[in-house]
Amino acid sequence: MEKKIFSGVQPTGNLHLGNYLGAIKNFVQLNNDKENDCIFCVVDLHAITVKQNPKELRGNIRETVATFVASGIDPKKSIIFNQSKVTAHSEVAWILSCTARTGWLSRMTQFKEKAGKDKEKASVGLYSYPVLMAADILLYDATHVPVGDDQKQHLELCRDIAQKFNNDFQVEDFFKVPEPLIQKEFSRIMSLKDGTKKMSKSELSDLSRINLTDSADQIINKIKKAKTDPLPMPSSLDELNKRPEAKNLIAIYSSLTGFKIDKVINEFSGKNFSVFKENLSQVLVEKILPISLEIKKLLDEKNFLDKILDDGSQKAHIIASRKVKEIHKIIGF
Ligand code: TYM
Repeated sequence: MEKKIFSGVQPTGNLHLGNYLGAIKNFVQLNNDKENDCIFCVVDLHAITVKQNPKELRGNIRETVATFVASGIDPKKSIIFNQSKVTAHSEVAWILSCTARTGWLSRMTQFKEKAGKDKEKASVGLYSYPVLMAADILLYDATHVPVGDDQKQHLELCRDIAQKFNNDFQVEDFFKVPEPLIQKEFSRIMSLKDGTKKMSKSELSDLSRINLTDSADQIINKIKKAKTDPLPMPSSLDELNKRPEAKNLIAIYSSLTGFKIDKVINEFSGKNFSVFKENLSQVLVEKILPISLEIKKLLDEKNFLDKILDDGSQKAHIIASRKVKEIHKIIGF
């Protein structure tokens, strides 16, 4: 069966190894499969749920496109566009916010984390953010949504919204209920400074993450400084599961090389961490540096990047406006 793939990435700068291994690497594989129709969206409407500097935002939108292309997504095969260019996203987010229940949104753990202690000061957009995400997906009848583990709850909400809309208006199968595509082993890459915390662009210390625009020296230095425990490399999966930092570094190595976790454990069992770290740095430089160099090259080609977004937006607009027309009819507008 032909798969319809949709996913989004926020243009908030500092795209990192977590975004790459948890999501973008998967986008590339899906893009390469002839059977799939893929849409990858730079979700700028989501980005403004927290304060953005307009000039930086414009640059970050281009940098996200550059990252997609540098990682291997082919804009001739997949649609790449930015969300704000297709107004159907905002419109359908409103309509779906009348289907979603406040109780459902109140359970979203990401809002609780991002809003922090002072929830009253968080924007309404930050609260209703998963409804916009549902609009993104449902507008394109996406059947599969590749994301990292942190987006799982939002996808469940999207499925609930689709089902409730279909039930409320008695339109069986109108919104397709999408399947999440979450990898088993590498769906949550952790901070290099704390193996129990997600690698994230909002973490203050740059040493906590490998950015996709880092130089070879930066990568090597960050791995050298990455937190480990005092023990030598683990010798079994059981042991690994009790050592979060070791587990994260081995997962990164395994994901980048394609070697199974138990093979990596066997290879380095009992060795000093510095030996493993040297190998890990080498693999990271091999895989990430070409992407980093290509991103930098593409950033000088503003017209090329803008054309990708313009072309993608036009194609996305055609698909989305068809769906909006049907939605209007169903609702009685
Ligand atoms: P965002 O921009 O925070 O992250 C983009 C993608 O990267 C994944 N990711 C990670 N994966 C593994 N380990 C990590 N440490 C890590 N950090 C981030 C995320 O899971 C995500 O897949 N709401 C979404 C964007 C969005 C979207 C959509 C996604 C908007 N509309 C529709 C899918 C479908 C977000 O903020 O992702």
